[in-house]
Amino acid sequence: MRFPSLRPRRLRMFKALRDLVAETRLDPSKFILPVFINDNVDSPVKIKGFEGYYYPPESPSLIEYISKAMDLKVKAFLIFGIPRSRDYRGSQAWDKNGVVQRALRYLRRELGGEPIIFADLCICGYTDHGHCGLPRKTLKGDIIDNDSTLEVYAKIAESYAESGVDFVAPSGMMDGQVKAIREALDTAGFTDVGIMSYSAKYASAFYGPFRVTMDSAPRFGDRRSYQLDPRNASEALKEVLMDVEEGADIVMVKPALAYLDIIRFIKESVPHIPLAAYNVSGEYMMVKKAAELGIIDGEIAMLEILTAIARAGADVIITYHALEAAELLNSGKTPF
Ligand code: PBG
Repeated sequence: MRFPSLRPRRLRMFKALRDLVAETRLDPSKFILPVFINDNVDSPVKIKGFEGYYYPPESPSLIEYISKAMDLKVKAFLIFGIPRSRDYRGSQAWDKNGVVQRALRYLRRELGGEPIIFADLCICGYTDHGHCGLPRKTLKGDIIDNDSTLEVYAKIAESYAESGVDFVAPSGMMDGQVKAIREALDTAGFTDVGIMSYSAKYASAFYGPFRVTMDSAPRFGDRRSYQLDPRNASEALKEVLMDVEEGADIVMVKPALAYLDIIRFIKESVPHIPLAAYNVSGEYMMVKKAAELGIIDGEIAMLEILTAIARAGADVIITYHALEAAELLNSGKTPF
């Protein structure tokens, strides 16, 4: 026979057929939308160097934003707070009247139980040094102290739980953070509050726009003594296994795009634990800027990237694209 008898193209001839056999399906209910809540603004303010807005903690604009997302079937949110003042320990992070605590109480009062609210738990945006842990002087210079930081994380977790959070999301990469937080939550009676741990969080240049948004870049040194080395894969599994053992409900790989191999590796190694992937600020802005320059189609690139993250094995995708992607998916006008 001179002609091929095997013809994979048969399955790609028409859109309905491609949809029928597609191996990966994106759905807005997979997305978590990050929300920046800023105690220094009293109306929504455009963020410089990033797409999106700061919202004040107790404002109808915040409710409108969240409600619009829920209408688009995006029902999970990850909130970040920008406080009015900072200090060495990040004490605003566990203040009863801190920006996140007030926003949580307000969201619960206005919207009830339906939105699933995750709150990022870290001190880098609350401290005057910008590190995710507490610095300590040693003979070898300033280091980030692990165990004193855990005490601070435990206090933050308890105060977020008191204010109505569904899941706390520790992002500081301190050893034992999940265990410390789980114990604090359980001791205070918050056994139903969950933990989504940033288990495999790499030291990455792709956090650039986020750090400008939060003004949370470290004032000295970098984060390489606590975040993962981009050269390592097995180490991500070690971190994930420890977090699972310590009681994490959801584990995470972050960033997503340059770490698709890690997402696949973790999903295959720990298939029984929901896996989140964080499509971070730099990944998002690369698409926006390239589209602005007219060198790629932003919408197709967005769906291609989100699909790739899901295909690699992520059950949950944290993404700034959530609303745009949801609109496209709901309309059925996807490019594939
Ligand atoms: C804070 C934190 C960071 C991100 C989420 N939580 C940045 C960092 O480690 O400096 C990154 C999010 C993004 O870039 O979208 N610990």
